[in-house]
This record gives sequence, structure tokens and C-alpha cells, in this order.
Amino acid sequence: MHIKKLVAAADHGGIELKDELVERLRDAGYEVEDLGTHSSDSVDYPDYAKLAGQSILEGKADCGILVCGTGIGISIAANKIDGIYCAKLNNPIEGKMAAAHNHANMVALGGRITDPETAWESVKAWLETEPEGDRHNRRVDKIKDLEGKR
Ligand code: RB5
Repeated sequence: MHIKKLVAAADHGGIELKDELVERLRDAGYEVEDLGTHSSDSVDYPDYAKLAGQSILEGKADCGILVCGTGIGISIAANKIDGIYCAKLNNPIEGKMAAAHNHANMVALGGRITDPETAWESVKAWLETEPEGDRHNRRVDKIKDLEGKR
């Protein structure tokens, strides 16, 4: 996957891991728009899934990284947006497969669940893996059918 620009967003439960991943991504040469949150005040994770999803749909970012406490709520919210395919990652194998087989344009991580090193390796595996075609295209197309896209 050739990634030009990333968007990142998190709620208060994911802010620390989000900040860590944004820093590592920028150090690695990625362009990252950080949509917040920027403080530990309690916020609602669907608002941040929506902001990041819109950024991708508007073409401002190629793909996105979301973080909440568990990664669960923010991934469920993101997957309600047509055109967003969000994989919740727990490890690098899932990161690789989210790109290769599922063509995920967004990933979610749990700031209270996954340690920063595992999270980083998982995100890197996702970013550095090419999507596979053939039967995987057919299956991803069937996901798009479920949202009425085709
Ligand atoms: C917020 O306390 C927490 O519920 C949220 O970050 C996330 O874990 C939800 O899935």
C-alpha cells in the first residue's frame, strides 16, 4: 500500500497511545493529521471516528488510525461510515492481514489494552503490507455490497 497521508484520532482513553503512534509515524516519514483529542477531558469516541472518517472520504487522508480505551467502540463507530473499513488490531499478524486480505483503510487500537511497542509493530505491518487481489477483491466487494455501495 502506498501511503501518502494519514489521519489519527482518539478519545480520552486512547490519547496517550495515539500521541505515541503519531510521533513514531512522523519520525518514520509519514505525514499525519492529528484530529485530537488533545486533552484528558472525557469525550465521546463516535465523534472522533466521524472526524477521521470524513477526512478520508473528503480525500484529505489516504487512511486512518483510531484509538479509544479498548479500540472496540471507535472501530464499531467507524465501520458505520460508508467507505470506511476499520480493523481492530491486537498484534502485527492482524495488521498484516487487515491490509492483505481485508483492504482496511482504517485501523483501531486499544490504548488501555495494547502496549505501545505492539501497537506500533501492528500499525507498521498494516502500512507496509500490500493488499492482495483475486478472491480478496471479491470478498471486499461483497462487504461493499452490504453497505449498498455497488
Ligand atoms: C471510554 O471510557 C471508553 O469507554 C472508550 O474509550 C472505549 O474503550 C470504548 O469502546
